[in-house]
Amino acid sequence: MTADLAETVSADELAALQLERLQWTLRHAYENVPLYRKKFAEAGVHPDDCRELGDLAKFPFTTKADLRESYPFGMFAVPQEKIRRLHASSGTTGKPTVVGYTEDDLDTWATVMARSIRAAGGRPGHKVHVAYGYGLFTGGLGAHYGAEKLGCTVIPASGGMTARQVQLITDFQPEIIMITPSYMLTLLDEFERQGVDPRASSLKVGIFGAEPWTEQMRGEIEERFALDAVDIYGLSEVMGPGVAQECVETKDGLHIWEDHFFPEVIDPFTEQVLPEGERGELLFTSLTKQALPIIRYRTRDLTRLLPGTARPAFRRMEKVTGRSDDLIILRGVNVFPTQIEEIVLRTEGLSPHFQLVRSTRGRLDHLTVRVEARADTTAEGRSLAASAVAAGVKDGVGVSVSVEVVDPDTLERSLGKMRRVLDERS
Ligand code: DLL
Repeated sequence: MTADLAETVSADELAALQLERLQWTLRHAYENVPLYRKKFAEAGVHPDDCRELGDLAKFPFTTKADLRESYPFGMFAVPQEKIRRLHASSGTTGKPTVVGYTEDDLDTWATVMARSIRAAGGRPGHKVHVAYGYGLFTGGLGAHYGAEKLGCTVIPASGGMTARQVQLITDFQPEIIMITPSYMLTLLDEFERQGVDPRASSLKVGIFGAEPWTEQMRGEIEERFALDAVDIYGLSEVMGPGVAQECVETKDGLHIWEDHFFPEVIDPFTEQVLPEGERGELLFTSLTKQALPIIRYRTRDLTRLLPGTARPAFRRMEKVTGRSDDLIILRGVNVFPTQIEEIVLRTEGLSPHFQLVRSTRGRLDHLTVRVEARADTTAEGRSLAASAVAAGVKDGVGVSVSVEVVDPDTLERSLGKMRRVLDERS
C-alpha cells in the first residue's frame, strides 16, 4: 500500500470531509434506527440541525446500556443480509454487546488498521505476529485483516499456548508483534524460562493496546526486548482496534483517524464539551459506518485531545490513563491502577507483575499492592522496595496502602486483557 490519506490530507480538507460524513451519519442513524429517532426526538434535534461540526454537541449521547437494551441487533441500521460479520464484548456483567459490520465497514476497518500498522513502522513484506485473541474479541481479526491489507505476512497466533508463541517468534522471525502489553510480559517470562534472549529476537516493533499501560511500562518492554513499543487504541462499539495509533517516530500519544471517527472530550459530570487540552471522558461518533452508526458514544476512557504532530491533520489523544470503571475510590481519594504501575516500575528490585487487592479492615476500605520481586532481589531489597512503594503511593497519590512483595512467578499471568484489581471486600 502506498501512502494513504493519513499522510497527505490537510486540516481544512479533513474538516470538510468530516462535516459531509457527519451529516450523512446522523441521517442514516435517524432514518434506520428507531432508538436514534426516539432519542433525537426527545432531545428536540433533527439531522438537519447539524450545519457545522460543533452542532454535534446538540445531539444525545449513546451508552453501552443502549446497546445492551437493543441486544442483539436492535441498533443495526442495515438489513441482516448486509451484515458480513459480528463481534461481541465478553459480557462479564449481563448480556454482551454485539456489533456488526457490512462489507464496506470491514474494508474501512482493514484500511484504518493498515494505516495504524504503517504509522507504527510496519511496511509491506514485514511479518506480523498477531497474539491478540481471535474470536468474538475484535483484537485478533482486526489486526489480521489490517496487516494483510498493508501487504504483510500474518502469523495468526492468537492468545495462549505461550511456550509455542516463543517458538514461533524464534523460528518465523517476525519484525512486528501485536499483543496486549500485559501478555507481552507473560511472553517475556517464557523467553527467559526457555533460555532465549528476548533482546536477540527478530522483533523490531510492538503494537500494544486493548488495556491501559504507562510510559514506565513502555520503558521496561523496550529495554527488555530491544524494540519500539507503540500504543494502539480502539473499542468494539466504535469499530475495534485501529481507531487511534501512536506513530513510531514521535511516540507522543495516539493520532485519531478522524476521517472515520470523530472525537469529543466532555466533563463526565456536567456533560459539557471541553476545549482541546483538557482532560475528561472521550466520546466518538462514527463517520462512515453503515451497519452500526454510533453517535457520541460514551467510552468511559479518560484522556485529552492534543494537536497533530507526525500526522499533522489528525488530532492526538493522550495515552489513556484509565477508565472511569477502573477508578478505585479509597477513603475519598481517587486511585487508578496506572498510577500504581508507574510507582512499581520505577522501584528497584520489583518486577512489573502486580495486582491490587481491595479488602475491608474494620469498617474501612483497604488496598494492598501485591507485587513480585525480581529474581535477584535480596530479602533486604524486598523490604526496601515495599517501603518505597508505600511511600511513593502516599506522596504521589495521597493515600496509605499496604505493600506485599511476593516471590517471582507467584501472581496470575495475563493471557490477554489483564485483571488488575481483585475485590475481596466483605
Ligand atoms: O480492546 C479493541 C482493541 C484490541 C484495541 C486490540 C487495541 C488493541 P474492547 O474489548 O471493546 O476493544 O475494549 C475497549 O479497552 O474502551 C479501553 O478502555 C480499553 N483500551 C483499548 N485500547 C486501549 C489502549 C478492544 N491503547 C476498551 N489504552 C476501551 C488504554 C485501551 N485502554
